[in-house]
Amino acid sequence: MAKVITSLSQLDFSLVDLESMPVPGKVMVVTPGHFDVEYIINPHMKGNIGDVDKEAAFREWAVIKETYRKLGLYVHEVEGAEGYPDMVFCANQSLPNITSDGVKQVVMSVMHAPERKGEVPFIQKVYEDSSYDVVHLDESKFTDFEGMGDAIWHHKKRLIWGGYGYRSSMDVYSHISDTFKTPVIALELVNEKFYHLDTCLCILNEETALIYPKAFSEEGLNLIRAMFPVVIEADKYEAEELFACNATCPDGENVLIQEGCNKVNSALEEVGFIIHEVSTAEYLKSGGSVFCMKMLLW
Ligand code: ARG
Repeated sequence: MAKVITSLSQLDFSLVDLESMPVPGKVMVVTPGHFDVEYIINPHMKGNIGDVDKEAAFREWAVIKETYRKLGLYVHEVEGAEGYPDMVFCANQSLPNITSDGVKQVVMSVMHAPERKGEVPFIQKVYEDSSYDVVHLDESKFTDFEGMGDAIWHHKKRLIWGGYGYRSSMDVYSHISDTFKTPVIALELVNEKFYHLDTCLCILNEETALIYPKAFSEEGLNLIRAMFPVVIEADKYEAEELFACNATCPDGENVLIQEGCNKVNSALEEVGFIIHEVSTAEYLKSGGSVFCMKMLLW
């Protein structure tokens, strides 16, 4: 039965009550040969059309890929497709799951941005080739869902954090909760610069989250603070200009983050995280950074 929590009064579980999930061992990345800023679908892209330095973008992407390899993840490289300059942000086209019996499933996105709809079949093919059960949303009912840009797994726990407001709609989460037999805590996004949940919430491990508070409603913040014993807050500059909260921590220990997030990095180091600073300068021009340039897979 679907369980979607939108307020503190509905929250009837805590971290210890949640079923465990395995840590994903693979990471999918999409080659950036066709990456560019060709249209404007988020505020960060304004003024950046045609401004991507292609060689720099490739170098940045390659460093991130290598960092995953060094951390012991299996890197699954997928070829980008011509005409889809945002396909490199492969957190957005899908939301994968592994059931308690080890069955791999994936819900394919219904991209809000018409420019990005054609990316989905390319990513679907990757799942079909990796023996995932592919689930499609009924597009007459659900018009917006941008995958792991908005729906983020809690580290090692059967719980999804679901952002809504700009690229995904609230009603999709009851369907996802049903399909994956997983509770969803739905958070309204209230600041268009933070248009995906992964721009303002980074789940670092079971207990720790990095957030940009002004991206959330009061109710959302209450839910985050109720579930995470440790909440680190990014300031406006690091969150908005450097996408600090679009960092990723695939193993609960090592954090890949845009370089220069000095305040966030000190706060993270203080509680024991290992920081790997990388440049995503070219991708910031498109409104994306480390988290959304990959998909963790089982
Ligand atoms: N230009 C892309 C878009 O607006 C960037 C996506 C970044 N992805 C993310 N999950 N934050 O769709």
